[in-house]
Amino acid sequence: MPDTSREHAAALDARDPLAGLRKRFRLPEGVVYLDGNSLGALPDDVPGALDDVVHRQWGVDLIRSWNANDWWNAPTRVGAALAPVLGAAPDQVLCGDSTSVQLFNAMVAALRMRPGRTVVLTDPDSFPTDGYLFDSVARMSGATVRRVPPGEVAGVLAAEGAQVAVVAYNHVDYRTGELRDLPGITRAAHDAGALVLWDVCHTVGAVPIDADAHDLDFVVGCTYKYLSGGPGAPAFLYVARRLHDVFDPALTGWHGHAEPFAMEPGYRPADGISRARIGTPPLLNMLALEAAVRVFAETDTAAIRAKSLALTDLFIACVDELGLEVATPREHARRGSQVAVRHDEAHPIMAALIDRGVIGDIRPPDILRFGFNALYVSYTDVVEAAAVLGDILATGAHRDPRFAVRATVT
Ligand SMILES: Cc1ncc(COP(=O)(O)O)c(C=O)c1O
Repeated sequence: MPDTSREHAAALDARDPLAGLRKRFRLPEGVVYLDGNSLGALPDDVPGALDDVVHRQWGVDLIRSWNANDWWNAPTRVGAALAPVLGAAPDQVLCGDSTSVQLFNAMVAALRMRPGRTVVLTDPDSFPTDGYLFDSVARMSGATVRRVPPGEVAGVLAAEGAQVAVVAYNHVDYRTGELRDLPGITRAAHDAGALVLWDVCHTVGAVPIDADAHDLDFVVGCTYKYLSGGPGAPAFLYVARRLHDVFDPALTGWHGHAEPFAMEPGYRPADGISRARIGTPPLLNMLALEAAVRVFAETDTAAIRAKSLALTDLFIACVDELGLEVATPREHARRGSQVAVRHDEAHPIMAALIDRGVIGDIRPPDILRFGFNALYVSYTDVVEAAAVLGDILATGAHRDPRFAVRATVT
């Protein structure tokens, strides 16, 4: 029986090699924050960085900041800062725009690299925006999107792989927290001559991705979850260096031009990852992100992963004791950094938890999600959250009518 006592949690905290990083985040008193898989907590480095960007760079340096404060190179500079977290050499990652835009751009580019092949394989359970965008690309390009569960991808590729241009999956199922077999699916796709496009929104910063080691082609992810880049922080796109010369994105904006300030009437792509640039980036968000990810230089993804698995192991043990159904796989190799708990009354239970300072979220129809960012969540947080959950269920506190009201964002 795993030890779920407060004393044991305190002992785990005392010997946690990442414990010192918690002070690099500003967490409100009395809150156990288990929603860093939706919006990461505020990194301590961000307010000062934003203050400098607003007051000095924008307020004083004004338009000169594009050169003087190197605003122009922020998309590649911040992309390079993200690269180690992705397990990528720096000149392959570009920061900018939203995940949705990057997914669209990458999918069109990938299809253009496989002329004659018309099928896209994607996950029936992917985050909705992925499917919506791939369907739109299909309407524009004549491609067909087939929704194939991850476990069946290798079989479909073995049988009909010659038709498949792109295999596009989420690294983690956003509802259940199940981790997909990224190396296996990638190998099967490559064996069939197809390209892979991975959406790593729910793993980047929490689970090693090893983009170069796994020979990935395209990787897209957001930066407002485990990277704690802030609300509306720009996304990133990884394109393997070997594809740069043939990378022909959908959105050929002027920032991706070989000579943007020549103002030529026709498009000529820049060299390298810079051709993934589109238009003027959201600099306040991007420079906040640059400050936010400094903390990753003080640790590595292996240490983060080890603690994340220990945190989720402990939470699963606590939830088992409460007799609740855990929807997240128990095997480490199949688990991201969240634990999903199934319950018919998921919404009022989460509302009651939030009211008591334990913040997670829900996904329909019946999933309570608890995300564990190893940089700032402690073992004591884990047992405290489970204790509050147990108390709510035992007392029926979630049946209070005020918890029946649904907010716009859940
Ligand atoms: C897997 C995945 N892809 C995409 C998105 C969202 O895309 P965007 O950043 O464009 O809103 C999310 C948001 O939670 C997500 O979980």
